[in-house]
Amino acid sequence: MLRVGVCVSGGGTNLQAIIDRIGDGAIENASIELVVSNNKNAYALERARQAGIEAVALSPRDYESREAFHEAFMETLDAHRLDLVVLAGFLVILPPQMFPRYENRVINIHPSLIPSFCGTGFYGLKVHEAALKRGVKLTGATVHFVNEETDGGPILLQKSVEVKDGDTPEILQRRVMEEAEWVLLPQAINLIAGGRVRVEDGKAVIEEG
Ligand code: GAR
Repeated sequence: MLRVGVCVSGGGTNLQAIIDRIGDGAIENASIELVVSNNKNAYALERARQAGIEAVALSPRDYESREAFHEAFMETLDAHRLDLVVLAGFLVILPPQMFPRYENRVINIHPSLIPSFCGTGFYGLKVHEAALKRGVKLTGATVHFVNEETDGGPILLQKSVEVKDGDTPEILQRRVMEEAEWVLLPQAINLIAGGRVRVEDGKAVIEEG
């Protein structure tokens, strides 16, 4: 059984998609052991509690230094003996000691087709604002392994989504979530739980099922 920890900062719709796909059996051999948020008011924590999952709030503001926060964060993850850490809308830079300790064991969902509209400053609605400003006809979502470079790790899955006339950032965000994010993230976890993913020469390779 793959022991999964999910890090969240906001509403937690991606977390919900994972909970639901474990519930209906689309994700096999995985269980969520922990949900961590930097924001104690994140609705994602409520979603976790409602699903009977341990939910922990750890805010950098509650610690006297970044280092102290990093240590507490690592201790919490380590204590749950996680095989995989999923960043599902987690807006905090990971502690440097995550790497190489959790190398190829952390994945992130990003709401664009990387390498477009990614890197420092591109998160949440800002990504969709930038896509609309540039006038792209296709956008989408990417699940990638996380390394020290923001949004720079090996790409595991991508799915494109059409941009339509009259889209606002909010409308586009919702379409990208519905058509791509909530599909890709559970799919990625299921592939990893099934032992079908390896990283080779900095690229993610998926074995046929
Ligand atoms: C999602 O759209 C996710 O892709 C994005 O934050 C949102 C969280 O929504 N993540 C990033 O922008 C990371 N750079 P959720 O809390 O409802 O899952």
